[in-house]
Amino acid sequence: MISMEPQKSVNPSRPPARVHIETWGCQMNVADSERMLALMKLQDFQLAESEQEADLIILNTCHIREKAKHKVMSRLGILRQLKDKNPGLMIAVAGCVAQAEGRKLMEEAPVIDILLGPGKIQELPSLVADFRRNRGKQIATGFMKTAEAKAIDFVIPLPLEGKNEVSRYVNIQQGCNNFCTFCVVPFTRGREISSPADTIKEQVNAYVASGAREITLLGQNVNSYGLDLVETGALAPSEGPFVDLLREVAEIPELRRLRFTSSNPHDFTKPLADLFKEIPKLGKYIHLPVQSGSDRILTVMKRKVTVAEYWERLAWLKNAVPDMAVSTDLIVGFPGETDDDFQKTYELVEKAQFTFIYSFKYSPRKGTAAARFRDQVDETNMVKRLAALNALQDRITIKQNEAEIGQTRRVLFHYASQKDPQVYYGKTEHFRPVRIKSGRDMIGKEVDVHILDANKTALEGTLVCEAV
Ligand code: SAH
Ligand code: SF4
Ligand code: F3S
Repeated sequence: MISMEPQKSVNPSRPPARVHIETWGCQMNVADSERMLALMKLQDFQLAESEQEADLIILNTCHIREKAKHKVMSRLGILRQLKDKNPGLMIAVAGCVAQAEGRKLMEEAPVIDILLGPGKIQELPSLVADFRRNRGKQIATGFMKTAEAKAIDFVIPLPLEGKNEVSRYVNIQQGCNNFCTFCVVPFTRGREISSPADTIKEQVNAYVASGAREITLLGQNVNSYGLDLVETGALAPSEGPFVDLLREVAEIPELRRLRFTSSNPHDFTKPLADLFKEIPKLGKYIHLPVQSGSDRILTVMKRKVTVAEYWERLAWLKNAVPDMAVSTDLIVGFPGETDDDFQKTYELVEKAQFTFIYSFKYSPRKGTAAARFRDQVDETNMVKRLAALNALQDRITIKQNEAEIGQTRRVLFHYASQKDPQVYYGKTEHFRPVRIKSGRDMIGKEVDVHILDANKTALEGTLVCEAV
């Protein structure tokens, strides 16, 4: 932790008491924000209803694609006006932009009081306390060490909005060792560190006790969970520590559904695919990012799997669960991607019949290998390719959703509409969003729903049996 020059005086006799957290980026950031909220609640901070009434505003930022810093700077411009009206307001920038930009960001945006990278979340309370003691602006960046990862796991995160307590995220692994050539994550989150299975189970148990029925285990590469623990002797050698972890967590009786993401196909094994047959709680859905349908591009991306190997993994999954639903991530316009390479991606999407895709225009990230590659694809071409891919997937998703009409599906309900409390939202086992209307409290219930209608984004249904 580095202290910069002292700033204007903050009155310690009127302690700030309300925190507002804004979260961008992936689910890991959501889990980190929940942990930051829990840490600040231990310091007697309450969740602010709005940014206007906050004493501490935290921007938990994402650096994965273009304009990440620009977005933070423009948000800070607006917050500066708030701070002009309320000089006691503390502004913290956390997350991957904080780690990537570091002190430079603080110098460019003097409105920032506290800057902390994702590896330093546990230091938030002391940074805030030091700032309030007039010890100046606070910076904590750098990657999490094993001991810190262990310590932080003992704080049970709190739901951000106090709303959806049914489906919760649990970070099981920090960082990533893969260095795919386009990706900034190893630079913002450091190397892989797995949390001990006991603390993971403790967290899941705490969530379940407070009403959670679905848990998503999070990591950038969950399939390699625990390999570091085996290496250091903290975990007994095993055929697959992630498979072991899933088996153990699934045993928690009240837990209805257990999911995980992200699954890098490189480390995806047949025993993991077979587990979907063994453990019904895993559902019938997986997110398996492929990135491209061209072997030439996959090689330069350093994804370490071929298209054929990706198909092999899909075959393992379909063998375990014939109606397995799969979604994926795709990048268009990676440096050197030709029309022919793109055509291969298009054909893969057509053939794979994913339930949905997250598709992105390639964005060069400073420090990554691909940012230095020649043959960057021009913007017009990227836009065209992205639009073609999305139009194709829209047709597939609509067709799949319409095929659901008339089916009976098991749905876990997560939350009610704020506008109409009789409208409930949930997910099928295939991870399709479902909306129903019911006079009963459906939150946290898993019941059969008859699907009546469908569009591109969701299914509409009615309860098969009113007795729940
Ligand atoms: N760990 C996950 C990916 C996390 S990042 C995995 O390996 O599957 C989420 C997605 O963002 C990636 O799958 C990729 O499709 C996209 N992405 C990452 N870096 C990108 C970049 N520089 N430009 C465009 N998309 C990118
Ligand atoms: Fe990035 Fe690759 Fe690691 Fe995923 S596996 S976080 S894409 S480096
Ligand atoms: Fe973004 Fe960091 Fe997640 S860059 S995608 S918030 S790991």
